[in-house]
Amino acid sequence: MLVSGTGSILDAIVEAGIPVDVVLADRPCLGLLRAADAGIDTELVERDAFDASFDRDAYSARLAEVLQKHEVDLVVMAGFGTILTQPMHDAFGGHILNTHPALLPSFKGWHAVRDALAYGVKVTGCTVHVAGIDVDTGPILAQEAVPVLPDDTEATLHERIKAVERRLYPATIRSILEGNCLL
Ligand code: GRF
Repeated sequence: MLVSGTGSILDAIVEAGIPVDVVLADRPCLGLLRAADAGIDTELVERDAFDASFDRDAYSARLAEVLQKHEVDLVVMAGFGTILTQPMHDAFGGHILNTHPALLPSFKGWHAVRDALAYGVKVTGCTVHVAGIDVDTGPILAQEAVPVLPDDTEATLHERIKAVERRLYPATIRSILEGNCLL
């Protein structure tokens, strides 16, 4: 699993009994601590830059190398904050999953919840998909709608969406592991 944030979806996946070989993060974060607490191997593959000097291909190659060392079958992104490029897709293409807090193809990108709220949609949701080379693209495996309520803030709406992701993502991963949902 790849995380950058609080790791609440990681927790849900672990609690659902999905076997997690290793949790990788691109920065120090709560998700990494939660994984270590749960007794899972962790690796910090830290980004050395967050500006134009960042070498995305080199980082993707480094990440792929660490994942290959752990002999993983499936890469599960859960709030991972680095866009991955060709070297990761060369190594794991078609076997990288993502959950996005909007109904793709609407509201791609890092601020999906904020953008949906700003647009004024009455319904948004989450999407579990196979990661394509372009951000928030790739075959959709599961989607579920979530209502936007009149008093919602970005935080309240995101939490309502995450409550669904914590159920839908593990269920989708389980289907894949059981061979019911082919990648
Ligand atoms: C989720 O909403 C996911 O869709 C998005 O980042 C959030 C991760 O939540 N990409 P958490 O860090 O697992 O709580």
